[in-house]
Amino acid sequence: MTQDDAKRLVGEHGAEPIEPDMTVGLGTGTTATQFIRALGARNAQTKLNIRCVASSKASADLARSLGLDVVTLNELPRLDLYIDGADEVDSQLNLIKGGGGAHFREKIVASCSDQFVALVDSSKVVATLGKFPLPVEVVKMAYVPVQRKLDALGLNPVLRHEKGTDEPLLIDEDNYILDCHCGPISDLEAVSSEIRNIVGVIKHGLFLNMTSVCLVADDDGVVQLKV
Ligand code: 5RP
Repeated sequence: MTQDDAKRLVGEHGAEPIEPDMTVGLGTGTTATQFIRALGARNAQTKLNIRCVASSKASADLARSLGLDVVTLNELPRLDLYIDGADEVDSQLNLIKGGGGAHFREKIVASCSDQFVALVDSSKVVATLGKFPLPVEVVKMAYVPVQRKLDALGLNPVLRHEKGTDEPLLIDEDNYILDCHCGPISDLEAVSSEIRNIVGVIKHGLFLNMTSVCLVADDDGVVQLKV
């Protein structure tokens, strides 16, 4: 099975637990896109009467184009479920997210949801988080001092650029991203709090103790990881 097939499969599984009248947070990225498409298709067959909050403009636009009702978090401040992909997951269901540059909004929507279902293909299941560069969203006006402070922590931050250009990537909230090539992170809580304490950091991509269930797709189908 290709990675794209696995993302489609797990995205379809992610749409199955959605019941009529639920309130649902929509993630961002290629896996979340598969989930949103599957949810849109289910809703087109049988009206589910669900309301959604999206974690990015791209996901909101996609969901609306499929006929889903998308409202703001201020209109719907509590959600039943948040469903999203991830870049890495460990056995405790801690995640690295933000490969798509949306982790700040994703973290907010996830934090307003009763349950967070993560959807991944099996290549993203790791023993220790950190092979995937850890994204840190930073205020544009202070990205250089923040980068120096992350560097001093030994986290090897690299400013993310627009693909194929020298321009820094500007994300939805008008911030920049520093990708930390730190390698395996042995103490997640310590790194999380060190990064969080730097003034100018908006949010990092470590999602610790936030995931309820992780669905993993591989050649044999989809399995559920729980702590
Ligand atoms: C976006 C994210 C994505 O969920 C994560 O990068 C996984 O993306 P994909 O499903 O495209 O592999 O955190 O900010």
